[in-house]
Amino acid sequence: MALAYTNVSSTQKTDKTTNYTDPIDKLLNDAVSGKSLFKNRGVLHFAFIPEVILHRDEEQKKVTQSLIPLLKQSRPSNLLVYGKPGTGKTLVVKKVLNKIQERAKEKSFPIELVYANSKEETTLYGLLVKFGRQLGLTSQKELPTTGLSISEVFNRIISAIEKNSLNTVFVVDEIDYLAELVSKTGKDVFYSLTRANERLKKGSLTLVGISNDLTFKERLDPRVLSSLSEEETVFTNYTVGQIKEILEERIKVAFIPKTIEQAAINLCAAMSGQEHGDARRAIDLLRIAGEIAEREQANTVQEEHIRKASLKMEEDKETTALNSYPLHEKLLILGVMKANGNSTGEIYQSYKNLCKITRQKELTQRRVTQMLSEIEMTGLISGKIIHQGMHGRTKKFNLTLNADTVKKAFKEDLALEDLL
Ligand SMILES: Nc1ncnc2c1ncn2[C@@H]1O[C@H](COP(=O)(O)OP(=O)(O)OP(=O)(O)O)[C@@H](O)[C@H]1O
Ligand SMILES: [Mg+2]
Repeated sequence: MALAYTNVSSTQKTDKTTNYTDPIDKLLNDAVSGKSLFKNRGVLHFAFIPEVILHRDEEQKKVTQSLIPLLKQSRPSNLLVYGKPGTGKTLVVKKVLNKIQERAKEKSFPIELVYANSKEETTLYGLLVKFGRQLGLTSQKELPTTGLSISEVFNRIISAIEKNSLNTVFVVDEIDYLAELVSKTGKDVFYSLTRANERLKKGSLTLVGISNDLTFKERLDPRVLSSLSEEETVFTNYTVGQIKEILEERIKVAFIPKTIEQAAINLCAAMSGQEHGDARRAIDLLRIAGEIAEREQANTVQEEHIRKASLKMEEDKETTALNSYPLHEKLLILGVMKANGNSTGEIYQSYKNLCKITRQKELTQRRVTQMLSEIEMTGLISGKIIHQGMHGRTKKFNLTLNADTVKKAFKEDLALEDLL
């Protein structure tokens, strides 16, 4: 590697006359000489599929059983898998798919298992194209990325299945997002997808939907629901004890032996088990705690590192939520911050002021009141009805976050530069 402009000796650590250590050198020196706590950081990535899946035997069996007909060249029922976030749904389904795919190679008839996550797609069209590509419609001519009607994309997929007599399983992960996408454009296609099999002269199509939104079922068109959930598997929450065992198993492959203190594991499991036994949160906490400990040059990961990791995760989550708002919502959040504890009318004034400074055209009070309730639902601000005797009642709003977190998050938005 050749670097230009290296007039500072790369080995220089401390200037003896001033006792000054270059901050970059210090970090680089520490990184080279310091101990690493990780043996294999990659196994803490959310997409990693561990050898052992603990406490999910029943679920693995149920998902496998419902897909077994594939190996006998008959069509499995559609399947709906649901349970809270981080309960191992994606993991279990992916592992079952991998195992069936391996067996499918030995079969004389073609089996195609295709997977897509609706959260990663912005349109139903995109999601269908993703499936089509995996079924061999690889060229733009066979399946263009834009331009066709959704039902035409669907027809081409059906033709590809028939042409090759494919036995297919479409796994739609986070299917609740798909339900939202289709509510605008493709309600009928969603319905067709769940009943595709009835249309097929040759081959088969089974739909496996995964969701962590338990209310999603209630929002589905009953016809879609009845065919999607021909079979159902529910993933229950992990207990704190189970999370601890899952962590211990992962620690063996991720960290150098004896680098995680038992108290830290216990705290990590307790913190992630408290709400609903989320294994993803537990593994993320552990990874971030490991990184913090390493940065601090600590010899082990201790309870304090787990606590710091938890704070950092909370802050990151808030920052992401704040940054995802459009400009006027951001202005309104700042409006609440500046008129903290005030009523809607005063907050509207504060918002209008901010619009003036940033040269934005203000929205109507009616729209702003509506936005306030929307933001309140996410928990970033909280509203309280105050009764004022004969003057009726009014609602007062408070920011639930630290003002510094808001400022830090919005600093990245150039339109708000003058305000912060
Ligand atoms: N029983 C388990 N054994 C080992 N690791 C697990 C187990 N359950 C979950 N995990 C790990 O926890 C993380 C979350 O699991 P997964 O992605 O399967 O959750 P999910 O139920 O699909 O959640 P979501 O609904 O949020 O998508 C992954 O890193 C996964 O490897
Ligand atoms: Mg998942």
